[in-house]
Amino acid sequence: MTERCDLLITNIHAATMDPAIRGGYGAVEDAAVAVTGGKIVWLGSRKELPDCSADEVVDGEGQWLTPGLIDCHTHLVYGGHRASEFARRLGGESYEEVARSGGGILSTVRATRAASAEQLYAAAVPRLQALMSEGVTTVEIKSGYGLELDTELKQLRTARRLAQHYPVEIVTSCLAAHALPPEYDGRADEYIDLVCERILPAAAGEQLADAVDMFCESIAFSVEQCQRVIDCAKKLGLPVKVHAEQMAHTGATAMAVKAGALSVDHIEYITDMDVAALAESGTVAVLLPGAFYTLRETRTPPVEKLRASGVPMALASDLNPGSCPLASLRLMMNMGCNFFGLTPAEALAGVTRAAARALGLSCSRGSLRVGLRADMVLWPMDTPDRLAYEVGALNPARVFFAGKTVG
Ligand code: NIG
Ligand code: FE
Repeated sequence: MTERCDLLITNIHAATMDPAIRGGYGAVEDAAVAVTGGKIVWLGSRKELPDCSADEVVDGEGQWLTPGLIDCHTHLVYGGHRASEFARRLGGESYEEVARSGGGILSTVRATRAASAEQLYAAAVPRLQALMSEGVTTVEIKSGYGLELDTELKQLRTARRLAQHYPVEIVTSCLAAHALPPEYDGRADEYIDLVCERILPAAAGEQLADAVDMFCESIAFSVEQCQRVIDCAKKLGLPVKVHAEQMAHTGATAMAVKAGALSVDHIEYITDMDVAALAESGTVAVLLPGAFYTLRETRTPPVEKLRASGVPMALASDLNPGSCPLASLRLMMNMGCNFFGLTPAEALAGVTRAAARALGLSCSRGSLRVGLRADMVLWPMDTPDRLAYEVGALNPARVFFAGKTVG
C-alpha cells in the first residue's frame, strides 16, 4: 500500500466474504480497510496496518463492514401495478390462470407500453431507492415488459438513466423473450424471429444490454425457442441468463449450462442431474424466495444438494409487479433462510459474492478484497448473523459506493 490513501476505515470487523479466509463470512475481526481511487488497497487486522495517512479517516466504532449488497435479478422498470391480480390470486386463481387469461405479465406489458419514458423513470425511482436504502450498490434490471422494439429499448434506457442519477451500478439484461405479445398470438416462432433479428441487435447496438435473459416455461417459451435466443446472444457477444424450472421441469437448466450461462434463476424444479451439471459448470443458481412466497409455492429449490455439490447460490429480489412486488433484498435473505434453509452466512454470500458471479462481475465486486471496488456497507451490529435474522430496524450506518460515502 502507498503511504497515502483516500479513505481509511478503522475499528471495524470485516465480513469480507472472501473464501480464502476461513469461516462463512471470511471474518477479519478488529480490522482496517484502506481505499484509493475507489478501490480497496489494503485490508487486514488493524494491528498490521502499515503507517499511512488518509484524506478521510472513519472510526467504525466496532461495527461490521460487509461488501455492498448486489440484487442480481430485478424487473424494477415497469408501468402500472397488479393489485387487482393480487386480489384474484387471493381469491383462488393461480398465477398461470391469471397469465393465460391475458393478465399477468401481459397486463404490465400494456401499462409499460402506454407509459412515457418519464413516467417509467419516475415509477422506478422509489423501487431503486428502497433497495439502495438497504445497502444495495449494484442492481440488475431486466426489460421484458415491452415485447416490441421501442418499448424494450425504452425500458433499458430507463434502467441506464437511473445509473446516471443515483450512486449505484445498474446492470441490464434484455428479457424480450419474457412472454408472447398478443399481436403474435399463435406465432411464437415468429416472435422469436423478431427478438433475434431486431430487438437484441438493436439493444446490443446501443449498448443497452449487458446480458440476455429468457423465460423458459410452458406459459412462455420452449427450450428450442430459448436456444435460438441463446445462439443470437452469442453472436452478439452477450452473456445469457435463464428463468428456469420455476413451475415445472423443462430442461432449461441443461440448456443453460451447455451454453455457459451466467445463471439459472428460480430452479424450484431442477433435478439431480441438473445439480450435477451446475456443479461442473460456472453457472450460478439464483434463488428467488420472494416469488416463491408471493405465489405461495410449496416446492423449494434443492438447497442441500446444491450446497453439497458446491454450486454457488445467489439470492435476489426478483422485484416485479406480479410474482414479487417486494423491494427488499434483506427480506429475501430472511426468506432464503426461513423457506429454503440457507444459513445466514450463505444468505449474505448470496447477495454479495455469488450475486456478483451471477452477473459476471466477480473480478470487480462481491467481496472485500484488495483490488476490488470499494462498495461497502457499515452495519450497527455485533454479528453478521443479524442481517438475515431481522428486517426493518437494522439499517446501514454508512454506505460506500466506489469508496465515496453515499448513504
Ligand atoms: O421472475 N418469471 C417470469 N418473470 C417474473 C415475473 C414477472 C411478472 O409476473 O410480471 C419472475 O417471476
Ligand atoms: Fe424474474
